[in-house]
Amino acid sequence: METADTDRTHDIVVWGATGVVGRLVADYLAGRYGPDELALVLGGRSADRLGGVADDLARRHDDWEAVPLVVGDATDGESLREMTRETRVVCTTVGPYTTYGTPLVEACVETGTDYCDLTGEVTWMRKMIDRYHEAAVDAETRIVHGCGFDSVPADLGTLLVQSFAAERFGVPCETVRIYLEAGSGGVSGGTLASFGEVFEAASTDPLARRTLRNPYSLAPRGERSGTDPGEQRYPRRDTLRSAWTAPSPMAPVNERVVRRSNALLGYPWGREFRCTEVVPTGHGLTGAVGAGAIAGGLGLFKTAMSVGPARSFLRRYVFPKPGEGPTRSETERGSFTVRLLGRGIAGDGSFTVEAEVSAGLGPGYGATARMIGEAAVCLLRDDVDSPLDGGVVTPASGIGLPLVERLRETGFTMTVDEPARSND
Ligand SMILES: NC(=O)c1ccc[n+]([C@@H]2O[C@H](COP(=O)([O-])OP(=O)(O)OC[C@H]3O[C@@H](n4cnc5c(N)ncnc54)[C@H](OP(=O)(O)O)[C@@H]3O)[C@@H](O)[C@H]2O)c1
Repeated sequence: METADTDRTHDIVVWGATGVVGRLVADYLAGRYGPDELALVLGGRSADRLGGVADDLARRHDDWEAVPLVVGDATDGESLREMTRETRVVCTTVGPYTTYGTPLVEACVETGTDYCDLTGEVTWMRKMIDRYHEAAVDAETRIVHGCGFDSVPADLGTLLVQSFAAERFGVPCETVRIYLEAGSGGVSGGTLASFGEVFEAASTDPLARRTLRNPYSLAPRGERSGTDPGEQRYPRRDTLRSAWTAPSPMAPVNERVVRRSNALLGYPWGREFRCTEVVPTGHGLTGAVGAGAIAGGLGLFKTAMSVGPARSFLRRYVFPKPGEGPTRSETERGSFTVRLLGRGIAGDGSFTVEAEVSAGLGPGYGATARMIGEAAVCLLRDDVDSPLDGGVVTPASGIGLPLVERLRETGFTMTVDEPARSND
């Protein structure tokens, strides 16, 4: 049952506040907003561990003496509903989402509580879309997946490119290429466990396999086909930059999220719109060798993850365990750059639009904490530019340009311009 918004006492619950990224999200929000601006609550399954995080926040931020805690379990629907009834926005970092995420989405839809997460588990996203999209639309509740490095730079970067193209040229770009130019930062056990869940799902579940095969698998029901062939699988020379590119490990998620954004927004970028995410490796022989090395390494890794015993070995003996990951100072030292090139045709010839999304923070941790933290604040304050009141949505379709503005204010570079004009 829904609770009136005015009766809810928690503005944002950071659910999973004891995890590697949850701690960073809580720390970011407490550093950015004071207790008089934000009723922040830390959520998780252990009161002791949550208490430790609250003590840490109090040490680091003078204003936050005693952050309230909420204790529950991700598998216990009743405790989740108790929490979500009291909450305006749940910001969840409890993953793998395939394992722990579904009861929380259900509780949020049932109690009309806005929600954002960090999932890149495309097979789980598809399940949530199929099960809860219509109910979330009816409840006018926003379930926003992919509010971290998967998929904010790709999704909002594409929105920036297409908004600029529509304004400057009167038409959208027909293609957008997303280049993961640089990134450093480290990876946590939670992320690798989540990655493993996608392969686990694909090994047992036919729907998961279909989801990974179809480039339009996250589009709304009845609209799951189109002309975009989907992710690049081999090294290729790029026509827009005349340089070599390799497949991107995040393309299976980010491209599908961008296509879902286009669909949910009513196809403002056209039904023939194509997007590809790649890793650029440079020119000439060095570029070709680099692209071959990345494509080969990624292929080997995917093959190993697809074979049950190899996957179990990696997860058991090689990957860091959930809860382990980069330290706070490591997450602050990293950086990333994502560049996007859009190409379209207007009345007087072809045009190019270029956008950059970058930050001096590790992409998966320091930067991700800001992305999801600000996404949660957008939902809380209804600071969104979206035609959708609810549904299982994407960052671009459910929040849109206000999140770009907020990220700029927190130090992200998010630029868009017209680099060159040609008549070829
Ligand atoms: N999109 C992106 O760019 C991006 C970036 C980073 C991370 N992620 C994703 O974010 C998720 C979290 O990553 P992480 O490295 O922070 O993982 P983590 O360190 O393992 O944290 C997981 C959190 O979930 C909590 N948890 C586990 N089981 C629970 C249960 N039954 N009930 C309640 N809470 C439970 C843990 O609590 P305890 O402390 O009590 O164990 C911890 O707070 C992963 O799915 C990862 O893939 C995405």
